[in-house]
Amino acid sequence: MNDDLRDYLGKAEGIDKLKMISGADWNLEIGTISALNLKNKDCPALLFDNIKDYPSGFRVVTCTGSTPSLVSLILNLPVTRSDLNLLGTLREKLPQWESELDRFKPEEVSTGPILENVLSGKDVDLFKFPVPQYHSLDGGRYIGTGHAVITKDPDTGEINLGTYRVQALDSKTAGWYMMPNQHGDIHRAKYHEKGKPCPVAVSVGHHPLIFRLGSVELPSGMEYQYAGAIRGEPVKVIIDEVTGLPIPADSEIVLVGWCPPDKVRLEGPFGEWTGYYGRNIKTPIIEIERIYYRNDPILVGASPGKPPMCDGIYFRSLFRSARLHDELVKTGIPDVKGVWLTKETNGPFLIVVSIKQRFAGHAKQAALLTSQFRTAGRPGRFVVVVDDDIDPTDIADVLWAMGTRVDPQEDIDIIRGAPSTELDPRIPREANTYVNSIAIINACKPFEWKDDFPVSVDLEEDIVEKVRAKWKDLDI
Ligand SMILES: Cc1cc2nc3c(=O)[nH]c(=O)nc-3n(C[C@H](O)[C@H](O)[C@H](O)COP(=O)(O)O)c2cc1C
Repeated sequence: MNDDLRDYLGKAEGIDKLKMISGADWNLEIGTISALNLKNKDCPALLFDNIKDYPSGFRVVTCTGSTPSLVSLILNLPVTRSDLNLLGTLREKLPQWESELDRFKPEEVSTGPILENVLSGKDVDLFKFPVPQYHSLDGGRYIGTGHAVITKDPDTGEINLGTYRVQALDSKTAGWYMMPNQHGDIHRAKYHEKGKPCPVAVSVGHHPLIFRLGSVELPSGMEYQYAGAIRGEPVKVIIDEVTGLPIPADSEIVLVGWCPPDKVRLEGPFGEWTGYYGRNIKTPIIEIERIYYRNDPILVGASPGKPPMCDGIYFRSLFRSARLHDELVKTGIPDVKGVWLTKETNGPFLIVVSIKQRFAGHAKQAALLTSQFRTAGRPGRFVVVVDDDIDPTDIADVLWAMGTRVDPQEDIDIIRGAPSTELDPRIPREANTYVNSIAIINACKPFEWKDDFPVSVDLEEDIVEKVRAKWKDLDI
């Protein structure tokens, strides 16, 4: 049987990584407690119950995947507390999962816990659930932050899952914001070009794998298969009667409805992953026709914010780092040793690649290629290439390499006009198109005289071993 959200929470509790919180207010308290929790390096998942104004049992869970141990649980991997270990295991697993995708198409079933309660017509009410107001300047309450929006390509029938923020605009209408070219937005546009409404289902509570895979740049139509390959069995889905879309049978809450071609509404602002409030934007809307929910439903929240107070970022950095590494290797570029989307910048703003330099221009080639993959995300800002003696996941090590190995006038190049987004805080509000520049920084020792570069004052393993053996009591 597939694990559901409740199984995952049981496992998190088993490794002492689940905290219950009773009596918080949906208005700013859930958001603030979650943000403070994310400042703690080893932060547990938080399960809120007895939320102000709501009956007991109508719960919210946040911080479901912001540490290596919780992400190991989500991905069905041995539990580790180290970023590097998890990244290594993930890199080993990715090719296996990707080779098995065809075996794990979702399995249609006729019933499941999600059908326990159904609200239709006049009973539809998004505020029946304790939807948080996460940040004080948010333009409202966001029901979709740790969710997956399910859409279908009308031409190919392909099903995509994507995490695109969803605001409860009123009890029956949601706004969804998608950057151009997101797969969900391409599906929406295809329906609208034909003058038809776009069917949409939004799962807002489920095993965290469903949300986390929706939030990373996988090939369109692969999220359900990916989840199946990771779990070793297909995801069970029920075909929703209203939209015909496949929804996870063990989701906690699913909203279904239609996005009409001729309506937009102002949505936002929302405190975003960039660490700033994004502007409020005219977005397409979803007219909700039906809500399915389990008894005692759990809404999954993942509030963004200034790092490290950004719930989605750890998983996103880790998963995208592993996939980007593979994509680079597939281009044929040799000796890529590590790739890391820095958590400290919430991901794409500063990407580090480490290589063992093999030829003149190797570092620049690695940087240029890295800057252009969709997996790298946008807006990109800095790509830094370091030698293989630098740990790309250790920001202090990276900054040391930049400070000591870069001659700015020689080693920094600027790419102009790279795709960005209106969430980029550095793009003026009046702009109509969203592009930005990316600096590529070669922080490797100069290739021509790398072997004559001053020797770094580092510890030598054999000496360390001898000293540790002699000075055991110091515990160093
Ligand atoms: C918590 C969280 C919220 C996100 N919100 C949005 C959003 O509002 N709009 C958007 O276009 N992308 C958003 N993203 C990024 C997308 O989920 C990501 O680009 C994903 O790959 C989109 O799915 P797709 O590749 O199938 O289009 C968010 C990611 C996370 C982790």
